[in-house]
Formats: sequence, C-alpha cells, structure tokens
Amino acid sequence: MTELVDNGSSLRSCASKLFVCITCRLLDERIEGEQVRPGARLMKILLQRLEAGEQDIEIVPVECLSNCTRGCTVAISGPGKWTYVIGALDPEQHADDVVRFARLHRAQPDGLPVWRERPVHIRKNTIARVPPLPQPATTDLETASR
Ligand code: FES
Repeated sequence: MTELVDNGSSLRSCASKLFVCITCRLLDERIEGEQVRPGARLMKILLQRLEAGEQDIEIVPVECLSNCTRGCTVAISGPGKWTYVIGALDPEQHADDVVRFARLHRAQPDGLPVWRERPVHIRKNTIARVPPLPQPATTDLETASR
C-alpha cells in the first residue's frame, strides 16, 4: 500500500505541494464494490497532467481532508506560502483547473495567486485558505541541530 503519512520533510525541497484526497466521493454518486473512488481518479489524472518536468509541484495522496460533503478535495501548500483547500472538484471536469491553480501557486513566493488569474471553479469552491507559518530564524535552526 502507498505510504500516506507525510512527515513534511520534503516541504523544503519543493515550491508547492498538492495534497489530493483519494477517498473522496462526488455528491450523490454511489460507489459499487471495487469501483475506483473519484478522488483516486482525480489523483491519477493530476499525475498524468503534471508528469513531465514539474518536480516543483509534488502530488501527495491523503485519506480525507475533512471536506467530505464537498468532494473531491485537494489542498495546496508550500514553505512560506498560503495554504488553500479546494472542493467540489469533478475529476474529469476540473483537473485542468487544479493544475492551473497549482502552477499559479508555485509561481508566487507567498502562494497568493492573483484573483482574476485563478480558474473560476477554483475561485467559487475555495473552502479555506490558511496563512503561512513563520519561517524559523537561521539561529533557531542552528540551535536545533546541536
Ligand atoms: S473523504 Fe475526501 S475530504 Fe473526506
């Protein structure tokens, strides 16, 4: 099974990290037996779209982002950047919107994409945004490593 626990160690090495809930369902969609969950379908499409040459957007599967009634759900974050939680994503309709938003997030040092440049579906279905944590001072890092 894929390791879903993230210890955050790779956050320092990528500009943006895209968390994708692989257990999400679409509202009113019944899942039968072994049928692939919509969240897992979204993950697969995003991996295909970002496959070539975009190492600075890392895709990480997670099981639940606590937005279950408005799935599918992703969250994007990065060191020193705002975090966004986005819901109501249909894998087949909105994967390109997620990719576009992830690229905008990556391009901004503070992770704040310009509002008018964001895909409309992302604008209308942003569940939350969270400010970045303060970066530890260099002296704090030096002290911690002793
Ligand atoms: S199952 Fe996807 S947010 Fe809970």
